[in-house]
Amino acid sequence: MHDRFSTNPASYPRWVFDGYDFGKDADVLEVGCGEGVIWRKNVDRIPDGWRLTLTDFSDGMVQAARSALGDRARYAVADVQTLPFEDEAFDAVIANHMLFHVEDRPRAFSEVRRVLRPEGLFVATAIGRDHLRELWELEPPRDGIWSKTRERFTIELARGELAPFFAAIELERYPDSLEVTDAEALVDVFRSRGDVAEERLAAIREHVAEAIDRDGSFHVTKDSARVRCRKP
Ligand SMILES: C[S@@+](CC[C@H](N)C(=O)[O-])C[C@H]1O[C@@H](n2cnc3c(N)ncnc32)[C@H](O)[C@@H]1O
Repeated sequence: MHDRFSTNPASYPRWVFDGYDFGKDADVLEVGCGEGVIWRKNVDRIPDGWRLTLTDFSDGMVQAARSALGDRARYAVADVQTLPFEDEAFDAVIANHMLFHVEDRPRAFSEVRRVLRPEGLFVATAIGRDHLRELWELEPPRDGIWSKTRERFTIELARGELAPFFAAIELERYPDSLEVTDAEALVDVFRSRGDVAEERLAAIREHVAEAIDRDGSFHVTKDSARVRCRKP
């Protein structure tokens, strides 16, 4: 969906990486690295002097990241709420689209601050409260992780949550939206959730097709941002 229908032609992972001004020589930790997408998409411009440590609390994700980056990084299974690293071991910490999963974020932020050197940078990505709003309005998420994430660490809440731990907080939004011109593609998204009945899928198909006929596309709000701050 994002590849086919996003209105911003720039690559989102390349834009996120543009915010990583850590200098030529830096110890960089990523928490919640997932499959290492940010590194896969920017492999041509990772400075030789960056010593990367990729972590996630899922062993499977760490293995996937290792298969992408191999010896270019070191790896650890680690929960951001209890990082297995010495104090002041890193110049920068990255957390992309993962803080909304974390139960005790004050604890996580205090861990990130502990492992950063003085003046070290913490760079995260977050989504806004209205991210993909039109999709949730069509079919609200069931109770569970995806509904919870919309109440946690949104762009709107980020500054207030980070302020007790970090200084020089900056937020930069990525301008984008989806303009969907294929109703079936959107129906497939809902079908992949596994909890939407066929008759509801048919109603969604009709609603989206009508909007496409009328307006040329079905509009979906996207709201993502890069959040940067510094250890005081
Ligand atoms: C939505 S994925 C994002 C992955 C990657 N950062 C990206 O942008 O593609 C969220 C990741 O955070 C990890 N995660 C969730 N809670 C975590 C925690 N408390 N500590 C470390 N990793 C966590 C998950 O296992 C998952 O890989």
